[in-house]
Amino acid sequence: MVLVGVYLFSLSFLSSAKGWTDTKQRSFREGFLFGAGTSAYQVEGAWNEDDKGESMWDRFTHEHPEVIEGATNGDVASDSYHFYHRDVEMLRELGVDHYRFSIAWSRILPTGLSNKVNEKGLKYYDNLIYELIKYNIEPVVTMYHMDLPNRLQDLGGWANPLSVEWFVEYATILFERYSSKVKYWVTINQPNKICMDGYGDHSMAPGINMKGIADYLCVKNIMLAHAKAYRLYEKNYKANNYKGLVGIALSMNWAEPVNNKTENVKATDDYRAFTIGLYMDPIWSAEGGFPKVVRDTIAKKGKEKGFSKSRLPELSAEEMALLKGAADFLGMNHYTTFLVQKGSTDYESPSFLDDVNVDLTQGKDWKKSRSSWLEGAPFGLYKIYLYINQKYDYPKTFITEHGWFTKPGIGDQSRVDNLRGYLFALQLAMEDGADVIGYTAWSFMDNVEWTAGISERFGLYEVAFDSEEKKRTARMSALVYKRIIETRIIEE
Ligand code: NOJ
Repeated sequence: MVLVGVYLFSLSFLSSAKGWTDTKQRSFREGFLFGAGTSAYQVEGAWNEDDKGESMWDRFTHEHPEVIEGATNGDVASDSYHFYHRDVEMLRELGVDHYRFSIAWSRILPTGLSNKVNEKGLKYYDNLIYELIKYNIEPVVTMYHMDLPNRLQDLGGWANPLSVEWFVEYATILFERYSSKVKYWVTINQPNKICMDGYGDHSMAPGINMKGIADYLCVKNIMLAHAKAYRLYEKNYKANNYKGLVGIALSMNWAEPVNNKTENVKATDDYRAFTIGLYMDPIWSAEGGFPKVVRDTIAKKGKEKGFSKSRLPELSAEEMALLKGAADFLGMNHYTTFLVQKGSTDYESPSFLDDVNVDLTQGKDWKKSRSSWLEGAPFGLYKIYLYINQKYDYPKTFITEHGWFTKPGIGDQSRVDNLRGYLFALQLAMEDGADVIGYTAWSFMDNVEWTAGISERFGLYEVAFDSEEKKRTARMSALVYKRIIETRIIEE
């Protein structure tokens, strides 16, 4: 990250955007789904109970406690494995239409492979799904949220092309067990985070840290794993009249150039290609495959570094066909807007800027707030919809995550502002034609925020981690959200 001090500029073109300052009261349409989300490693705990296998996050945090702030980990987390009844009670309190949670692969297949299926693990999800359906809460199931069974990581994890088949074996079991109950499936959560931070860097498990090599192997394999799981559902379930939708959740943050200099505008375009296009193009673009600028940049930089061929593995014609159209919806995980200038790092994609005090507030209700890497700038959500709608012709989307964190003990006003501001941006985007199934607040409750441990609190519900029962208490934002869900409008 490049530090550039204080820089102010105005995004003048935005002030002309539709509805920017108007005060019209908008309603979320009937049938629009409101929900809240979590992931297995972040909330379940019970890391080695009932024959669960070790995941790569268990290994990573146990071997390197120093990488996690406060040396916490997910061993117990919010203990949802034991308190899921309370969780469902809270979901009912909130009045949500859906709950997005993930299944821990290593709970179902302790070794990662299908030779040993752990019934006790399945039972936990049977119970949770049963409980949700009993109360009319739609389960939105993520099949993979960062937590690979560690035995598979021992074999190279997502850098090994066999990971595609491992994932399909696992997906087969989940579809068989739950397709009659689950309508919304998310195959993989945030491939870019997994690959770039876990294989290209060491800020996420498994911490392989082979930038420009392992990350690109991971990208190809994980995208193919998604596509094959999608095709599996298509062939075995859709063809038999199952009505489920299968999507992939991508990290969809917005990027703005730091100023209008051509080189920075170009750098921002490239940044979008590396962070959005690399994952969207193979599925949603007309030509399919990885974006040309990404392929060319990687090949060129590789040559300079002495590689005899590109480090980004090619997609064959068959693989491109497999990927093309392989999603019923795009899961949008949207949190923030980054500022970009021409990169000064060795890495292929331009870096984003930190600590830049730019006015991202654009009129009433676009309250800007700042919390570490999070820049609260709702216009970014509106703009990313403009971008994907134009580029990929109005794809069907589902906001699978959006949220805000506060430090422990800090009040909740910034989360309330953030929630309201972004929901307003979403209403404007939908008014302009964005196709959105629903919105999922992240997070339903405080949890283990990966290497930030429990120092970043994303929850609508606060969790008292030091209490035996991991006491959950609704924050003000939970009450505000409940009211929005009830009334379908954002009140003044
Ligand atoms: C996206 C990830 O999917 C989720 O696990 C994480 O907690 C949030 N971002 C917040 O960083």
